[in-house]
Amino acid sequence: MSGNDVIVLEDVHAYYGASHVLHGMSLRLPAGSCMSLMGRNGMGKTTTLKTIMGLVEPRSGAVTIKGVFANGIAPNAVAYSGIAYVPEGREIFPNLTVRENLLIAARSGPSGTKNWTLERVLELFPRLAERLSHWGNHLSGGEQQMLTIGRALMTNPEALLLDEVTEGLAPLIRDEIWSVIEAIKGEGMATIIVDKNVNKLMALADQHLIVVKGEVVFSGDSAALAAQPELLHQHLGV
Ligand SMILES: Nc1ncnc2c1ncn2[C@@H]1O[C@H](COP(=O)(O)OP(=O)(O)O)[C@@H](O)[C@H]1O
Ligand SMILES: [Mg+2]
Repeated sequence: MSGNDVIVLEDVHAYYGASHVLHGMSLRLPAGSCMSLMGRNGMGKTTTLKTIMGLVEPRSGAVTIKGVFANGIAPNAVAYSGIAYVPEGREIFPNLTVRENLLIAARSGPSGTKNWTLERVLELFPRLAERLSHWGNHLSGGEQQMLTIGRALMTNPEALLLDEVTEGLAPLIRDEIWSVIEAIKGEGMATIIVDKNVNKLMALADQHLIVVKGEVVFSGDSAALAAQPELLHQHLGV
């Protein structure tokens, strides 16, 4: 573990009631780096992100956020420490406009940074700029997803967790969202991306984890993963 890590999980076990879902999950996200979480449905990717966010409390093991032991801390404390989470599904305010949705999320980052303003987010998402006064519930699915990501950026986070943000969207919109993710990465923001598009993840992420039944069975960079295509076949069916 280095002092430069934003998020560290060490041997985390987590449950839903009696159901044991994370079986010794470990990961390390250095500042500014991009990590993918791959794995079939039900393997514990979302639960891993929820555990980071304080939405699921680990029963054992350690979650460390920016060097601070974070097991069981409240989700809003995690968010205020600079970790933004875009969950599966789209959480926007349907009865607020695009502008209001973005402004209500606006704040400085944990160290006072204000890199992401309304203007910058709109530069990233020209479609949102065209729809500033539209109600949230009048947006298409893709626009709602862009708004969700835009809202996360407005909090000026140090790390962004993206859970299947391209799921169920038209190919053109998916491509737009991938371009945005690439731009966000280019800004030096740390990211954890859960997505089914292995090719995009291979092109983008510095580090890939394959998750099987709540633990990591592979961890390495794109070259290491490409050298073991049987892993992708076995664990992702590609
Ligand atoms: N709220 C919940 N209550 C009980 N079981 C859950 C809940 N959410 C997820 N699970 C179970 O936990 C396991 C891991 O789920 P999840 O983390 O959502 O996997 P993934 O994101 O990799 O598809 C699955 O077996 C799933 O059915
Ligand atoms: Mg999931």
